[in-house]
Amino acid sequence: MSGDTLKSDLKKVLEEATQSIKDIDNPSDLEKLRVKFLGKKSLLNTFMKSLSDLDNEEKAQAGKKLNDTKKKINDLLGEKKISLSKSKDKEDDGFDFSMPGKASSVGSLHPITKTMNCAIQIFESLKFECVEGPEIEDEFHNFTALNIPETHPARAMHDTFYLENNNLLRTHTSSVQVRVMDQENPPIRIIAPGKVYRKDSDITHTPMFHQIEGLYIDKEVSFSNLKSIINIFLKSFFEEDDLKIRFRPSYFPFTEPSAEVDIEYIDNKGNKNWLEILGCGMVHPNVLDMANIDSTIYSGYAFGLGVERLAMLKLGITDLRLFYENDLRFLKQFQRI
Ligand code: DAH
Repeated sequence: MSGDTLKSDLKKVLEEATQSIKDIDNPSDLEKLRVKFLGKKSLLNTFMKSLSDLDNEEKAQAGKKLNDTKKKINDLLGEKKISLSKSKDKEDDGFDFSMPGKASSVGSLHPITKTMNCAIQIFESLKFECVEGPEIEDEFHNFTALNIPETHPARAMHDTFYLENNNLLRTHTSSVQVRVMDQENPPIRIIAPGKVYRKDSDITHTPMFHQIEGLYIDKEVSFSNLKSIINIFLKSFFEEDDLKIRFRPSYFPFTEPSAEVDIEYIDNKGNKNWLEILGCGMVHPNVLDMANIDSTIYSGYAFGLGVERLAMLKLGITDLRLFYENDLRFLKQFQRI
């Protein structure tokens, strides 16, 4: 190879390298170029090896040219490396801190669960212990032990979902009263919140709904104790001292005397109305006797609260079924209650 050929070859290599380096836009491709133009198998290295064919004077000149070319390519690679890393920094600098973040949506408790929790908290502060019972019950605990014998018309009133083996879905949480009285001796002071089931569906009824049962048994428990606890609870739950509460005489086989409690509310036409919210009464002596509690020594009161009714009044909802349609637009309105 002559000195002149080498000179023009080096010029070509430099031109090619300059263009290639210019076109690169990422560090890993740049590294490939470094290997291509300066690595062991590069053209420049081959030229270097062939220097020995030249005479001494040419060797010195060609060697210098070769080193110059190498240095230029090396410089170009270095500059490109810096400019690539700068443009990356620039991208980072371009980060817009004022852009709103991607909000991740946070779930929340169902309004019925919140209503239950709020009611439970109030009863716990009034020294009631919170207990649970099974949703699949037998006829004994749901009816018989509550003074509702087999032929009693109240069984038909309950629109029961019957299951196999004489089991049923409990129609009320009063069944938990029986289970607690079986296991504990007075004084008993419990609430039993939970789901209950009836074949019923319209704007104020759903086949599954929630109740909170209350039971207090001790010596000398009176109806005025019952009235007082219901008043305290409702005024505290609705956070309204002059809430209008009405006790209406009623009938339940497991209490005597019995009452239903209504609350006054203003409907969406602006009219005053009453909504029934719970049933209650003094535990029937037959119920105490069946649970082996001496009804000549002990007396007690019981109540069963409709949780959906409480929630409807508190949240101003007129159709109960809305709670169970799982429409997030509806449910999200109550995230902060
Ligand atoms: N279990 C009744 C119902 O579901 C409600 C009820 C009434 C419960 C009177 C009671 C009570 O404990 O004393 O309709």
